[in-house]
Order: sequence, then structure tokens, then C-alpha cells
Amino acid sequence: MMANTHPLDSALHLVVFASAQDFVQAVQPFDDEFMNFGLGMVMDTLSSSTSQGTEAEVLHEIAGSNAHPTEGTFAAVFKGQQLVLTMTHTTKRLPHFLSYPTTVSLSLLAPACALLTASLDLASIRQLGGPKEAIIALLNAAPSLRATAPTFAAIACSASLKTLSPPTSPSHGHGDEANTDYRYEICFARDEDALPLVVLALAFSAHSPWPSPSHVVLRILRDAIAARVLYAVRAYKHCGPTGDQTAAEQYDLAGYILLGRNTSRTLAIRNVFVATEHRRRGLAEIMVRSVTRACLGAPNPVTSEELESVQGTADVKVNVGAPGWGTKSVVCLLVSEPAVARIYARCGFVVDLDAKDPATGRSLCYGQELRGITMDA
Ligand SMILES: *[C@@H]1O[C@H](CO)[C@@H](O)[C@H](O)[C@H]1NC(C)=O
Repeated sequence: MMANTHPLDSALHLVVFASAQDFVQAVQPFDDEFMNFGLGMVMDTLSSSTSQGTEAEVLHEIAGSNAHPTEGTFAAVFKGQQLVLTMTHTTKRLPHFLSYPTTVSLSLLAPACALLTASLDLASIRQLGGPKEAIIALLNAAPSLRATAPTFAAIACSASLKTLSPPTSPSHGHGDEANTDYRYEICFARDEDALPLVVLALAFSAHSPWPSPSHVVLRILRDAIAARVLYAVRAYKHCGPTGDQTAAEQYDLAGYILLGRNTSRTLAIRNVFVATEHRRRGLAEIMVRSVTRACLGAPNPVTSEELESVQGTADVKVNVGAPGWGTKSVVCLLVSEPAVARIYARCGFVVDLDAKDPATGRSLCYGQELRGITMDA
């Protein structure tokens, strides 16, 4: 290790990586909740290209033109040995993303963006996502980029074992109607659930800042089922007292949670969705609560006390295990609606842009934005 006073330690330098692998290797030591986007999306690309091809390849097959998938951009600015900022672009369909670790002083963003602007060809950027402060710093450093107003804004937040807490007050009032017609089970999705879940995933995706076409959705769901990172809510119709065995085994899919952005310390809840006819029964909350606990390896997946306080009148059985990626220190997610933010906060996520870690004084959340980009001729 060089001493802190070594002149090189204070110099910012840019590294443009030749491959996603090289990027991951260099950036992994800085894996934390703020890096979940920058690192996790690149790691997801790596794991999907070793199985059935990246989304980019799929799109190119469909387009039938460009034979080569987009090469991607994997760049990072370091100050001495410390990571300051990354810019990543994994597939054509997705935006370029800026990310920085929780340890970074925001005053370094302007010089880091000046380096990016001086050394990278930014002309291919169509959409730019990342922490608001980083996006503004890049736009200031690159006056030839024209940005739209944010097309999407959310709070990037997280939960850890430290932030998990039992609900402070029961959330009854979810379901005012008596929900006696179904019993629910939350568990890993199975192979045969992939096709029926496409309908729900497309409904979710319709509100997403980067909606996916159905063949991509199906592939993502199938990969996620195989990796055990897709949880579903099964809805069984209550049957009559005669107890028809076949009918009892049939279920509808009422909702799902899809995980993504797998890094060694973190993962993200990418989608949370409950079908309209099964809403207002506390299903989203009990799903998020139980899956988050399973991801963090919380000793008790979900207590009966919690179940009771959350589920209201719905009859829910929770049967979730740790994801196939293993348990993590942090679960990350993006939340854009205040009503949904309250659910996540009840589940132990810190959803507050001003919140600081009491031990380190570092921010726990950041504001994530997405903007459309054009370039001056
Ligand atoms: C997920 O992350 C863990 C920890 O880094 C790693 O061991 C595993 O291979 C990853 N899985 C996939 C499918 O990328």
C-alpha cells in the first residue's frame, strides 16, 4: 500500500476496461449499496452471456442486421487506489449508467466527469441513468450533451440486517373486503410458471423506464427460475368442504418478485408486482418482507407476529428460501411512489434521502434519475 501522502494518491485517473470481466475485477473491491447498479448490471450481463446470450444478442437476432452485439462501455475513475465514479453501458436497449460508492466525496464528481468527457466518446449515449448529482456533474462537464428533463426519478434505497425491524403498527386496512375466496402461498416460481408470469411481468414492465419486449421478459423469467431468484405468489381458490383434490392443486399467479443485479455483497429487488384483482391484501408487503429477510439470511424468515400484523384478512403461507445467489449484506431497490415507499419502509428499507449511517455518517440513499440525451451537431 502506498502512503496516503504519495502524490499519485491524490491524482484522478480514468481506466477504460477492455471487457466486462476486467471491469468487475477492478471494481468489485468497492462493492456496496451505491454500486449495486454500476456493478450489478455488468455482473448480470456476464452471467447471462455464459448461459443463453445477452439481451443485446437477442435483439440483434431479431433485428437481423448488426452481427455483433454492442461491445459495451466499462469505465472507471480512481483517485489513487480509491474508486470515484463508473460509467457502464451493457446492452443497446439499456441506458448508460453512472455509479459511485458510498465512500466518495461528492466534490470529486466534477473532476471525475471532466476526465470521462475528455477521454470517452459520449456520442453514443441515448439515455443516461444514475445518481442525480453524478448526472448533473457529467452534463456540466460535457456542454455538447443535451439532456431532457428526468424521464424517471426514484430513490435508490436499501435494507440490511441492521435496518430490519418488526412493523411498528399493524397495517390492517389493506383488505376491507373479506378475502375468503383464495389462500395464498409465496414460494420460488417453477418452470411452468414462466409463461403465465410473462403477462404479469409485461404489466409491470409497462410502467418501467426501460420496458422489455415479451421474448426478453420470458428469457429473463426462465433464467431467474433456473437461478432461484424469482418468487411467485400462488393463489389457490378455496374449494368446498368435499375437498376436490385436483382443484386444490390448481393455482393462479397473483404476483411475483424478481431479483437482479447480483454482486458479492448486494442484490436488488428488480420487480415487485401484484395482479390487480389480488391487491389490497398486503401481498406486496408480505412478499417484500419475507424475500428481503431470506436474502439477508435473517435468522427467522418471517415471524408469525409479522405475518399477522401485515396480512390483514388474507390467508398467506410463506415458504421462501435464500436465493440461489446466496445471502447478501444488502438488498437494494428503486422506489418512485410515496405509497410504495411506505411499504418498503415498513419492511426495513431506509427510504430517506437525508438518512445517514450513524456509524459512518455516509448517506444511505440517493436520488436516481434517468434522462434522454442528444448531442449537438
Ligand atoms: C452471484 O454472486 C455470487 C457472489 O459474488 C457469485 O458467487 C455467483 O456466481 C453469482 N451468480 C451469478 C449467476 O452471477
